[in-house]
Amino acid sequence: MSCKVVIGAQWGDEGKGKIIDILSRDADIIVRYQGGNNAGHTVVIGDREFILHLIPSGILRKGKLCVIGNGVVVDPEALLKEIDMLKAKGIKIDGNLLISESSHVILPYHKVIDKRRGAHIGTTGRGIGPCYVDKMARCGIRMIDIVNKETLRRKLSANLEDSDEFNFGQIYKEYLEYGKKIKKYLVNVSSLLNKAIAKKKDILFEGAQGTLLDIDHGTYPYVTSSSATAGGACTGAGVGPTRIDKVIGVVKAYTTRIGEGPFPTEFKKGLMEKIRTKGKEFGATTGRPRRCGWFDAVIVKHAVTVNGMDEIVVTKLDVLDEMDKIKICTGYRYKGKVYKDFPADIDILEKCIPVYEVRDGWMKDTTSAAKYKDLPENAKKYLARLSKLLNVKIGMVSVGSKREQAFRI
Ligand code: IMP
Repeated sequence: MSCKVVIGAQWGDEGKGKIIDILSRDADIIVRYQGGNNAGHTVVIGDREFILHLIPSGILRKGKLCVIGNGVVVDPEALLKEIDMLKAKGIKIDGNLLISESSHVILPYHKVIDKRRGAHIGTTGRGIGPCYVDKMARCGIRMIDIVNKETLRRKLSANLEDSDEFNFGQIYKEYLEYGKKIKKYLVNVSSLLNKAIAKKKDILFEGAQGTLLDIDHGTYPYVTSSSATAGGACTGAGVGPTRIDKVIGVVKAYTTRIGEGPFPTEFKKGLMEKIRTKGKEFGATTGRPRRCGWFDAVIVKHAVTVNGMDEIVVTKLDVLDEMDKIKICTGYRYKGKVYKDFPADIDILEKCIPVYEVRDGWMKDTTSAAKYKDLPENAKKYLARLSKLLNVKIGMVSVGSKREQAFRI
């Protein structure tokens, strides 16, 4: 029995979908605990590609229980669409999916506000931030509220009291309908998980986004509005920290980010196009091109620390196969000083000159490597160097999008 948390160690899109899919083979229950349909987890099974935004990717394996915790913000329309999409592809949902009664609901006004006010952050426009704002302001509407006519009427009318823009009747009717369809999935997730832990079940907590997008530990304010770090698993699912056995971080062999905000190791145009094309670096949720750059050991070291990572998984190593020189950022130079630790001052991140060490690439195809031994010498050296800089063990390496293109080391 064990409880593992898998989280992103950069700005999201580290390839967590695939790693969670592999790790969920041995899990009984897979839990999402924060974020909403701003996430996009891509899983390739055979020649079929699935992109999941809300439902844990464990749903693609037969007989796994998938759970959405209280820390998630759920857009019922997006949830029902995802359920229909999966059912149409022959995936069993009923009996395999449960949702916390306490998770907060994204309403139409959240999406409108997000599109209006989130532009400078480059949000996904899915209403995530404004929904968490209402949660913290104690005027949010929870899943349990949309299955109760009176509660929904009271809360929604209070929220729309001063609004000429949104039609109470229309939203009320629409959300009651969603409530009817979703009711069968609602449970007390904390109670369910703690009973499962007592029965020694294997539980996998899947983080969405990444550490540098975490509301507390990321590049604030260019972050998402939830706790994307390992601690979020406890508050977002109702499981105590003493129950977590292992924290696994997922890192790309280079760095990407979507949306606005500082990115010290960002490539210039030529290299940007090359890596973006090779790594298929386009957002799974919005289709936006991802910004790409060299591996930044400063941010990942920060992620290792704030998450208490036991090991990391390095993904997309193959994307660097054709690079004759590979750089690793080991510090930030700013106003005559070199910062080796992650600075809270956004000005340093925006204006610093990255300090790089330059390594020889391996210039060989790694996509067919089936074990660590198969990797070219320079690829092994690159991994060893990352492990040393980050002071954490590398547990697995991924060299392509397919399930079989990954091995433990
Ligand atoms: P929001 O989560 O839609 O509020 O967006 C806030 C920031 O997080 C923006 O820069 C988004 O591009 C980024 N973001 C949100 N979800 C993801 C994700 O799953 N992967 C990568 N970036 C994300």
